[in-house]
Amino acid sequence: MLKQQKKLILDEAQRESMRRAGRVNARLMDFIRPHVVAGVTTQSIDDLVAQWTRDHGHVPATLGYQNYPKSCCVSVNEVICHGIPGPYELQPGDIVNVDITTIVDGWHGDQSETFLIDEVSEERRAVTQCAFDCLYLAIEALTPGCRVSEIGETIVPEAHQRGFTVVREYVGHGLGRQFHLDPSIPHYPNRESRSDRLFPGMCFTVEPMINAGTRYTRCDKQDGWTVRTKDGLPSAQFEHTLLMTEEGPEILTLTENGPRRGHQF
Ligand code: MF3
Ligand code: CO
Ligand code: CO
Repeated sequence: MLKQQKKLILDEAQRESMRRAGRVNARLMDFIRPHVVAGVTTQSIDDLVAQWTRDHGHVPATLGYQNYPKSCCVSVNEVICHGIPGPYELQPGDIVNVDITTIVDGWHGDQSETFLIDEVSEERRAVTQCAFDCLYLAIEALTPGCRVSEIGETIVPEAHQRGFTVVREYVGHGLGRQFHLDPSIPHYPNRESRSDRLFPGMCFTVEPMINAGTRYTRCDKQDGWTVRTKDGLPSAQFEHTLLMTEEGPEILTLTENGPRRGHQF
């Protein structure tokens, strides 16, 4: 128990490695952003992610991860997460999440954004805004040594107040030399998250998935990956990789050109 806890606490050199991984991943997101437009296939986004990552000497973490076949996840409209890039062409009115994870010298950076393709319905815009605001509200609630449940206790009331729901089956996670580590970071409070704490030196993601309708999910039986809302209503997500420091949380995947705290979609 103590031993495992200790492994999660990064020293200064390890923190720098994670900062670098986050920075590289964020630069990749900056590169991808202008390409997420009407008429492009989700496969072409994956091709760009794969190419940029290789050109910069890094490795896409999802490729081959538990046999996942692509270099990123692209999740459109009612797809909550783990959408597999393919021949689908983005259309005006779509909302599309691009989730990218890069391995930089053995360390992982993980982030996602939901993009609005041209004019979208009010429901799609509002669910995207909610996911974005929930991510930043949760980050602001974090303090050194706080309980993981601060995250869920912030997100659930906010989403419900706006008439939306919070996905439970898929969660944030610790990360470092591995893609998915303890602690589990649920976006709703549960028993485990009420006892797990976020100490200085820990790296983890916050990645709320907010649904316009039911919170319940269905995983595609054909491909084994694509997760959709049970009722077919839209879902949105934003994700950052964070480092808890002695001063509070540091966002490692902040982009230069992307939406900042307070952004209005
Ligand atoms: N990037 C996702 C996350 O935030 C995980 C994708 S795993 C994959 O945790 F295999 F679906 F790519
Ligand atoms: Co991710
Ligand atoms: Co993640």
